[in-house]
Amino acid sequence: MNQLTHVAIIMDGNGRWATERGMPRWKGHEAGADAVRRATKAACRHEISHLTLFAFSSENWRRPAKEVHILFSLLRRYLESETAALVEKGIRLSAFGRRDRLPAAVLQSLLFAEERTRGGERLHLRLALDYGARHEFIEAARSLAREAARGIILPDQIDEDLFEKRLSSGVVPPPDLIIRTSGERRLSNFLLWQAAYSELYFCPRLWPDFEERDFDKAVEDYALRQRRFGSTRRAVCLAG
Ligand code: FPP
Repeated sequence: MNQLTHVAIIMDGNGRWATERGMPRWKGHEAGADAVRRATKAACRHEISHLTLFAFSSENWRRPAKEVHILFSLLRRYLESETAALVEKGIRLSAFGRRDRLPAAVLQSLLFAEERTRGGERLHLRLALDYGARHEFIEAARSLAREAARGIILPDQIDEDLFEKRLSSGVVPPPDLIIRTSGERRLSNFLLWQAAYSELYFCPRLWPDFEERDFDKAVEDYALRQRRFGSTRRAVCLAG
């Protein structure tokens, strides 16, 4: 049986969900926030220690300003209305990605939620916010290059461990399973470092329609996968 510690989700399809219903796109994001609650509940039920959600990518700034504004308002509303419940459920919330471009009010609610939920040990809920893997690679490379130039480290000391520690997405176990909804099959600049050996699961449902049972199905599918991490099928079988 594959161990399942960390699930990451690319929540996709909010806009299509709303358009199909003749509603403005933000209605899809609003319904998407309810799906976030369901996914969190399912993760707790499966006793998963880390759940990472792609809430806003660095490329999402290209959307119309009104949609971006509504997305951040929903996020703020979620943080403000959910913090007490997260504390009660033992869920720690944190975010990674750029913070310098977040609206001040969102940053304030985020810092409050992170502080209040810090002690949560049941589940670590991580939001990727203004996040893009390529950007964090560049930032990590720059910070190591600066240190090498100042003689603080030697270039040869740079290894996977050191590089990973400089990533804004933090040092947590890599996602065992990455779920993407809406039928699209790509990673879209999400956790490219940590996804090296993640199992991918593509769910045809649009994110606002994502139910707990869809999470269960993904977990069941994952349980049947053979994870080889570059080894052979035979070696994995022998190792038990
Ligand atoms: C992708 O759907 C989804 C997003 C860009 C944002 C995700 C945001 C939420 C689920 C709402 C609030 C988040 C939290 C954490 C409470 P899309 O708009 O790209 O859909 P489309 O591909 O159908 O256009």
